[in-house]
Amino acid sequence: MGRRRRGSQNPYRRADRFTQRAHAEGYAARSVYKLTEIQRRFQPLRRGGRVVDLGCSPGSWWRYAAQIVGPGGIVVGVDIDEPQTSPGPLILRSVLEVTPGEVHAALGGAADVVLSDMAPRTTGDTFGDHVRQLELARSALQLALALLRPGGAFVCKVFDGEEAPSFVTELRRCFGRVKRVRPEAVRQRSREFFVVATGFTPPPDRSPEAAARRAPPDA
Ligand SMILES: C[S@@+](CC[C@H](N)C(=O)[O-])C[C@H]1O[C@@H](n2cnc3c(N)ncnc32)[C@H](O)[C@@H]1O
Repeated sequence: MGRRRRGSQNPYRRADRFTQRAHAEGYAARSVYKLTEIQRRFQPLRRGGRVVDLGCSPGSWWRYAAQIVGPGGIVVGVDIDEPQTSPGPLILRSVLEVTPGEVHAALGGAADVVLSDMAPRTTGDTFGDHVRQLELARSALQLALALLRPGGAFVCKVFDGEEAPSFVTELRRCFGRVKRVRPEAVRQRSREFFVVATGFTPPPDRSPEAAARRAPPDA
């Protein structure tokens, strides 16, 4: 059996400095350092806040967000995979099936922040992965539109590609400030970036259907 060529190992498996730091600091994933950078630059998370973490497993963003909001706040996690840690109520289902009403009930009110680090299992088909990830990002946006209080914030992972600019344009309609950021912890080869959208203004759609989407079921 020949020796592995230099550079042929899977770069996603290498214990780089972020992975090592996550282990040392007891976080379930290195991706926590994407959120810590976003928090340092934009401060979407506040003490006492109500937060939704979409794609919360294995749990590093969730744990970090729970530390920031503290005991007076709440972070509701949603994922199809069981997380390693649950520092708040967990909804163990696909975001494509979850209703705003049940997340609102778990939060106990409107959300201050909706986070989404959701990603499908990647296949290596760049375009297909992009399309499937954008479907998750759009579902996250629909939940954010239904759940956020005026002035709230939305932080969402996006796999860059053909449909990404139209997604960012959609956000500009409902948020005062929308920034594309690529935290240092994003792997060099990855096509992902994050949108950090702040200053939410509820959309002008005041139809009963839209109101029903925004309100909890028993309101
Ligand atoms: C990159 S991981 C999130 C890592 C997490 N932010 C952390 O720091 O621990 C992406 C997550 O998206 C979840 N995901 C993928 N499709 C989903 C769906 N349809 N509904 C909910 N979560 C989904 C995956 O199960 C996976 O846990």
